Amino acid sequence: MAIRKLNNVLLKQIGELKKAGTLKKPELIICDVVRPKNDNGPRFKVEGYDQEFIKMNSNSYLGLSLRKDMIETEEAATKKYGVGPGAVRFISGSFDIHRKLEKELAKFHNMEEGMIFSSAYMTTLGVMVSLITPETIVVSDALNHNCIINAMKLGRPKAKYIYDHLDLEQLKDCLERAKGQCDRIIVVTDGIFSMRGEHAPLDKISEICEQYNEFFIEGVLLMVDDSHGVGSFGESGRGTIEFTNAKGVDVLVGTLGKAFGVNGGYTVTSKAIIEYLHQKAQTYIYSNPISPGEAATALKALQIITSEEGKVILSHLRAMTKRFKEGLVSLGYETLEGEHPVVPLMVRNTKETSEIVKFLEENGVLATGLNFPVVPKGDEEIRFQISGEHTKSDIDYVLSVLDEYKKL
Ligand SMILES: Cc1ncc(COP(=O)(O)O)c(C=O)c1O
Repeated sequence: MAIRKLNNVLLKQIGELKKAGTLKKPELIICDVVRPKNDNGPRFKVEGYDQEFIKMNSNSYLGLSLRKDMIETEEAATKKYGVGPGAVRFISGSFDIHRKLEKELAKFHNMEEGMIFSSAYMTTLGVMVSLITPETIVVSDALNHNCIINAMKLGRPKAKYIYDHLDLEQLKDCLERAKGQCDRIIVVTDGIFSMRGEHAPLDKISEICEQYNEFFIEGVLLMVDDSHGVGSFGESGRGTIEFTNAKGVDVLVGTLGKAFGVNGGYTVTSKAIIEYLHQKAQTYIYSNPISPGEAATALKALQIITSEEGKVILSHLRAMTKRFKEGLVSLGYETLEGEHPVVPLMVRNTKETSEIVKFLEENGVLATGLNFPVVPKGDEEIRFQISGEHTKSDIDYVLSVLDEYKKL
């Protein structure tokens, strides 16, 4: 059978990954969640382990996904509309809750119109592939997310110009080089870069795009994928645009699956672009939307974020992030500046990164070790992600484990 031959080839390749030290660890299986009690945030039970874990590796930055009101909202919408969407929207119609969510997302980000997709990955693919023409050059930060890299491949632009991470002089050089070469430019960047929680200076990037706009017949479009920023960053959770006070972002992509605590992706932009995407975005046209229950719950998350309570959660998140960062520094660990709840502990050594992650795990803390080739050599780190449901005592416990490690 052909599959046996292929199985052997694939198993050999997996063996090579193992030899190279780049094989991914088996995934942990979470089998139960212990709700917050006393001074503790939630704890997670994992198959094969007796102890309970604090999650310091979740993207659910506001800790909304376990809330009673979120769960009840999903239950009510599911009872009303059923569990799944049934088909793609242009065939069997949109649920009113999908449209309402799109309108509210556009309002939240102060954009003309919104459109939801099954994930942010699918959003970026759908948007970029639709907007790239044979006369488009895409200018992209070297550390942009994998969905942007694949969108550039699928979109087949005239050329891709990649600038070194956050190097705005090189970004200008790329635009200079593109003059006279194409009709349309798409400058694309992550808002928050998820490995270290650093942000793109969107205020400066949008000024540069504006300066070069006149040199291209169809202009210089600025597209930002702020999946890690929306909901969790900026004074009111409106992400990197708010944090940098940027004025000229044309197309914003966000996820409903991180700070919003639900699932799905979206874009907000001009009415004309959304109208065009309805005709052209293949990951929208040929793929189901999120379920009505998810849409209703994302809407609920948006209501929470924009309420007084949302402000309190965001300010608690910032306080916990600060407490953890300051704690790391006082224990003699290296971290990087920034306010985003991704907190990197820079170890700068592969073996020690793995050792610390193992020690944390043995002591009931889940965090992500990032080694080469995920990060450049010398930048090996442990990525901690703070959440609005972490308590002071959770943060202090994780710091106490790291203190223990130092003393070994
Ligand atoms: C910049 C960026 N875009 C997209 C995604 C994917 O988000 P989703 O899970 O909604 O597809 C991520 C997730 O890590 C991300 O960091």
